[in-house]
Amino acid sequence: MKTLVTANQKGGVGKTATVFGLATDFRERNLRVVVIDVDSQGNVSFTFDANKSGVLASSLFASNKPTFELVDDFTVIEADEALTELDQMTLQKASDAFRASLKRIEEMKYDVCLIDTAPSLGVGMVSVLLSADYVISPIELEVFSIKGIEKMLTTISHIREVNPKLQFLGMLPNKVDSRNPRHERHFEELRQAYSDLLIPHCIGLRSSVSEALASGIPVWDNPKTSARVAAQEIRDLAAYIYQKMELAA
Ligand SMILES: Nc1ncnc2c1ncn2[C@@H]1O[C@H](COP(=O)(O)OP(=O)(O)OP(=O)(O)O)[C@@H](O)[C@H]1O
Ligand SMILES: [Mg+2]
Repeated sequence: MKTLVTANQKGGVGKTATVFGLATDFRERNLRVVVIDVDSQGNVSFTFDANKSGVLASSLFASNKPTFELVDDFTVIEADEALTELDQMTLQKASDAFRASLKRIEEMKYDVCLIDTAPSLGVGMVSVLLSADYVISPIELEVFSIKGIEKMLTTISHIREVNPKLQFLGMLPNKVDSRNPRHERHFEELRQAYSDLLIPHCIGLRSSVSEALASGIPVWDNPKTSARVAAQEIRDLAAYIYQKMELAA
């Protein structure tokens, strides 16, 4: 099983939208997919309401002898209120338990585990990164998002010292408005500063992405013509990540 985390301590940049897009694409590739919502806001749990497993995300941090069961080919470990208390745990305890929980999921023959995190560099995010295989950081082409990414990159490089198998797949520019000169300028600045840390894909600022998150219906099943470009962008991103994660059987 391969594990991918979306992480950025900046809020509203597209972590949940990215998990949703990848999860819906990977499901259609007939992979067995688990989504874990490690954000007490519960956004991805809301979007995938029909696929909840009954297992609560906070329980994955609670014991290093987990006994939960998952059955469906596509299933969601939902966010719960107790996730707000993770920061009161020691990192050691939380990350040991989370590692054991991932091992348990792997034993249930899932192919891929996608983890949505909260906008904070707390115990939850760090624990998850300590046992993950891949991380991707969605960003917006706005000043505060770009300023904040440095901190995220530092965190990832520190975590890689402890979890060397963690691969940073890169920053994903999201909500990109090609007609906005500020976005163009910021994209150019990012490209110059971090050319090798940028994913060679972007997701535009498109209302169909928000509609998909609100309805749980993939962008490509939205009949509006305006959803087509978003669908193609997300399909292209998913194909790229699928290949990077070596998910082909
Ligand atoms: N490409 C896009 N185009 C238009 N709207 C988008 C796009 N991506 C995300 N959004 C919208 O922007 C908001 C924030 O996106 P999302 O919830 O994915 O960010 P997040 O990083 O998970 O936020 P948080 O840090 O609060 O968890 C949501 O309302 C979402 O519908
Ligand atoms: Mg989110």
